[in-house]
Amino acid sequence: MGKSKTQGDVRAKKLLDWYDSSRRDLPWRAASGAKSDVYAVWLSEIMLQQTSVVTVAAYYRKFMALWPRVENLAAAPVEQVMQAWAGLGYYSRARNLHACAQKIVADFGGVFPTDEAQLRGLPGIGPYTAAAIVAIAHGRRAIVVDGNIERYAARLLALETPLPAAKKAIYAFVESLTPQDRAGDFAQAGMDFGATLCTPRNPDCGHCPLHGDCAGAACGHPEDFPRKALKKPRPLRRGATFYLRRADGALLTRTRPPRGLLGGMVEFCCADWRAERSPDWALRQFAQGALKGAPMPGVAWRHAGEVDHIFTHFALNLTVFVGAAPRSTPAPEGFVWLDESRMRAAALPSVMRKVEACARAHLAASGLSGARIRS
Ligand code: ADE
Repeated sequence: MGKSKTQGDVRAKKLLDWYDSSRRDLPWRAASGAKSDVYAVWLSEIMLQQTSVVTVAAYYRKFMALWPRVENLAAAPVEQVMQAWAGLGYYSRARNLHACAQKIVADFGGVFPTDEAQLRGLPGIGPYTAAAIVAIAHGRRAIVVDGNIERYAARLLALETPLPAAKKAIYAFVESLTPQDRAGDFAQAGMDFGATLCTPRNPDCGHCPLHGDCAGAACGHPEDFPRKALKKPRPLRRGATFYLRRADGALLTRTRPPRGLLGGMVEFCCADWRAERSPDWALRQFAQGALKGAPMPGVAWRHAGEVDHIFTHFALNLTVFVGAAPRSTPAPEGFVWLDESRMRAAALPSVMRKVEACARAHLAASGLSGARIRS
């Protein structure tokens, strides 16, 4: 056994010992020494892509209560799954989750494959998730590298190469540490270590099991690692959205196309979102009485306010307009009226919940909430 392997073994043991005394109690995690449920591991790993442990916990419990086994999830209508996912963001994950459950049932008899390559062929399962499932659920050696693990590795090495170029070197380093036994615990140890001690801004080096062995700490500023390539600024897109309420309380909505941003989610009518618009483009149109993109002619729109939302690749500013329609108004083509209970159950993404809150606040402030608004 070479020198670096020995050092890798020592480091892995220190992390595992730390994990045995300090591991987090998470709803999807098996008790110490107990066998993991692969369905629980898969579901949680899909939810944890891009989302924090705290946010995921409530959704994970809800999904497990609704669909305790992969067969239950596969048999559920996709709309119900989208609806239960609403608020978690990155909605293609929900669609892939459902498609993956159906494939596991149809092609694998309800049993998750144990092979990384086979897992990677399933909807929504990339290299990270496949490795996490193999290591955590199946207890087999796989190299798991998430953001927390990336951070501690870059610090131990004081790696000067910025992310994402450093990913290859980090993977090789984690590979050199990953033990043959307890690979799942080792991966989760890295996740917990990164989330609770080796944190992005104020690492708690005083309690670190690897302190004497960390090149980042030795240079006195471990928080400067991993180095990051300069990010391009996020562009700002602007749009308008139209909250139209019928006299019986129903709201005019439509379902977005199944693919792409917020695919399959419910929204209020929106004028398209564009980057080249000036800050007051919507209010200028409003003042001129020519609101482009409004769903119906003849509505007396009122300006309710502004909503800001951050997506991964752009920031969005929506100018919100509210209007009222008579009780018998039919929905224009492509739209449906949703009454209050269907609205509550609808797969409305966070940005549209913000629009709803803005419109409701405006209506309440103007004493126009409920059935009293008139067009
Ligand atoms: N982040 C992603 N997967 C995780 C897991 N299994 N435990 C804790 N944090 C995680």
